Amino acid sequence: MSRTFYLTTPIYYVNDVPHIGHAYTTLAADVLARYKRLKGYEVFFLTGTDEHGQKVEKAANAAGETPLELADRVVKRFQALWEKLDISSSDFIRTTQERHKKGVAHFFKTVEEKGDIYLGEYEDWYCTPCETFWTETQLIDYKCPDCNRPTEKLKEESYFFRMSKYQEQLLAHIEANPDFIQPKSKRNEILSFVREGLRDLSVSRTTFKWGIPVPGNDKHIIYVWFDALTNYITALGYPDEGGNFAKFWPVDVHLIGKDILRFHTVYWPTFLMAAGLPLPNKVFAHGWWTVEGQKMSKSLQNVVEPNMLIDKYGVDAVRYFLLREVPFGLDGDFSHTALVHRINSDLANDLGNLLNRSTAMINKYFDGVVQEPADGNEVDQAYRAKTEGMVRQVDQYMDELAFSKALQAIWEVVSAGNKYIDETAPSTVMYHMLESQRIVYCLLASFMPRTAAKGLSYLGSEGEATEAGLAWGGLRAGMRVTKAEPLFPRIEEQGE
Ligand code: MSP
Repeated sequence: MSRTFYLTTPIYYVNDVPHIGHAYTTLAADVLARYKRLKGYEVFFLTGTDEHGQKVEKAANAAGETPLELADRVVKRFQALWEKLDISSSDFIRTTQERHKKGVAHFFKTVEEKGDIYLGEYEDWYCTPCETFWTETQLIDYKCPDCNRPTEKLKEESYFFRMSKYQEQLLAHIEANPDFIQPKSKRNEILSFVREGLRDLSVSRTTFKWGIPVPGNDKHIIYVWFDALTNYITALGYPDEGGNFAKFWPVDVHLIGKDILRFHTVYWPTFLMAAGLPLPNKVFAHGWWTVEGQKMSKSLQNVVEPNMLIDKYGVDAVRYFLLREVPFGLDGDFSHTALVHRINSDLANDLGNLLNRSTAMINKYFDGVVQEPADGNEVDQAYRAKTEGMVRQVDQYMDELAFSKALQAIWEVVSAGNKYIDETAPSTVMYHMLESQRIVYCLLASFMPRTAAKGLSYLGSEGEATEAGLAWGGLRAGMRVTKAEPLFPRIEEQGE
């Protein structure tokens, strides 16, 4: 049986057009999906849009559209961006699709039949931007403790999920599975949240219409987070528990931003426990991007629009920058200066130069024909060992979702390559120089697919990067190497 790997991004709200924060999660997921495919896994990579709820309904009213018209319009923006970013997702789920609505209704009924959903009355506060319920004591000056925006008082009949019942089971699960919530600092936050006590959760609303009705009582609309989280199984065909569901569930990793951790590590696992389904293997929360030191917001007019970045700098430079600049899991700051600096120093100078110099040399000395490797002296052996060590290191870092460290490990070999050319008689070390780079480009295929394909084709290996290609020795005497064009032209830096 082939090994499988299932990974997901959050499904994005359609009240807003995509920005760099959305692009970040999807991009990280894409890099991981490509790497797992390279390693021989059968990968299911899911993304999509969250189209129900009060927030989307409000945005549609403000735009003079129906919620579905709004969703149909905005979903295209997401899909076009993913195409432009070379996102290799397997499926795109929209919560307005029949397959999803059917699955959510079934999931709700299953939990209800178990006795874990009951009808009661909700009397507390609601934050629409976060689609979150709060008690009065949790509010700060009657504002949402998460986003600091005004909340509204709700008093309505509501279905409740017996979340309190699962407190101990959830705690035991988090404690027994140290990797379930990552990074570690986030795991500790959730542990203390759960230890403080779980209250039953309101899972339906009666004051608006845009969503999935509660089965058997359509006065009630299912709470948008109950609806949205279920996408991770409806996309696999749930309630049919055969097919893709049997093949891919439980998910290997849910990639999310840190702001939606509680929904994924408290609500979702307890829903699944109630429905008698296995829990996710891992939930990984990344940090948030600020822009030139400030929070990204429409009112500050500093929202970074990924299409514009790609047009200006190229897709692979954007992919590289976002994953290299900030360790995955920490917050980071976006600035054009930092991006241009990375392009010039890492991509044009280090990576591009090494390829240009070495492919130019083999053409000058050997008409572009690869020679038998010279009898290795110590320097050559060390260079080969470093390259092989990089392959192992990158594998470990990818397992930890430490994308930035993986790129650093690759760049150590690239820098060593430039030094190697400077310090040795190049014509005798051609083989090692080229072979090391061939392996570098195989690894880079997950991060920068277009650049990797170009690099590999200059280095005589046509076609896709493969797992076998990560082993030393793929380049063989007699193969032809072409003189490379610059991969990344330098960009003028401000102040230059
Ligand atoms: N619809 C919910 C998710 C449901 S998943 C079952 C949602 N959507 S969202 O569109 O508001 O946000 C989606 C993701 O974008 C979140 O993971 C969030 O962390 C991420 N980001 C939004 N702004 C961000 C930054 N400024 N920086 C990094 N990521 C950010 O929440």
